[in-house]
Amino acid sequence: MQLDKKFEKLFLNVSCRAALSSFYLVGKKDKLAADKAAVDTMRSELNKIDMKGKIVIGEGELDEAPMLYIGENVGTNKGPELDIAVDPLEGTNFAANNLPGALSVISVAEKKNLFNAPETYMNKISANISQKDVIDLDFSVKKNIDNLAQYKNKKAEDLTVCILDRSRHNEIINDLKKLKVKLKLISDGDVSGALLVTDQKYKVDMFLGIGGGPEGVLAASALDAYNCFFQGKFIFDSDKDKLRAKKMGIDDLEKKYEINEIVSGDSIFCATGITSGDLVSGIEIKNNEFISETLITHKSSGLKKTIKIKQKI
Ligand code: FBP
Repeated sequence: MQLDKKFEKLFLNVSCRAALSSFYLVGKKDKLAADKAAVDTMRSELNKIDMKGKIVIGEGELDEAPMLYIGENVGTNKGPELDIAVDPLEGTNFAANNLPGALSVISVAEKKNLFNAPETYMNKISANISQKDVIDLDFSVKKNIDNLAQYKNKKAEDLTVCILDRSRHNEIINDLKKLKVKLKLISDGDVSGALLVTDQKYKVDMFLGIGGGPEGVLAASALDAYNCFFQGKFIFDSDKDKLRAKKMGIDDLEKKYEINEIVSGDSIFCATGITSGDLVSGIEIKNNEFISETLITHKSSGLKKTIKIKQKI
């Protein structure tokens, strides 16, 4: 089954409105307030849509999050059953500190087609390749780079790799340096980081490293529409994480998930800029209107583009 085209506009409106609400708190040094604004608006906009929606990735579990918690029902309870993953404010530091790259993100698929990811870290790798076995989380950095260089008919030194600038990545970063690969070190925001492989204009050949699991699922749903490669492996460090994973039905804690195991069937993805970044521009307000830019994909209709729209506030 396919998601009706009308949902493109409806979910686009959800991420645009959430981005606007958070935009008012940009640069106010208050991550929680900027997040709460986006969450509240996203929830109230989702509740206007005719659907039986269920949050599969959200602000946490019921005891941790009063709104958009995992398992929460959203929508008018009329219409199709949908699974919804949200990150109302991706890049809380970016918003609080008025830095580039804050986004409002949502992904929607039919019921049971979006992975219910635990709130743990995930080791991720993505590139714009449709073939399997070129890159893999189990390969060494050198093997991934050599294979990718050969696949793209480039030299290693002409490849750019995006990775979160974290000490946990020191070894990978050193290996990449030795291979003379160009680095794009990001301070936050790895949904965007993973998506920079989708178009040559971003000049990123591969994304890799450890970031949030929910962010991995969101990125995978857009990468699916671009027919890119993505692999993710959850990291369960504590007994609490392991128990939670088992409760969610994850038996193999070492499993590497490919795109089609994270998102299957049709899906719609929207990422609206709050502050301007690599992927999209941020919100602009003119009189009583606001202009927003969104990267939107809809797998079945082939839609994948950035859309700039002007709406009444
Ligand atoms: P928030 O918007 O929740 O602050 O997340 C930002 C982010 O950079 C994500 O994009 C990334 O997946 C995660 O944090 C990385 O986590 P950490 O900062 O713990 O390395």
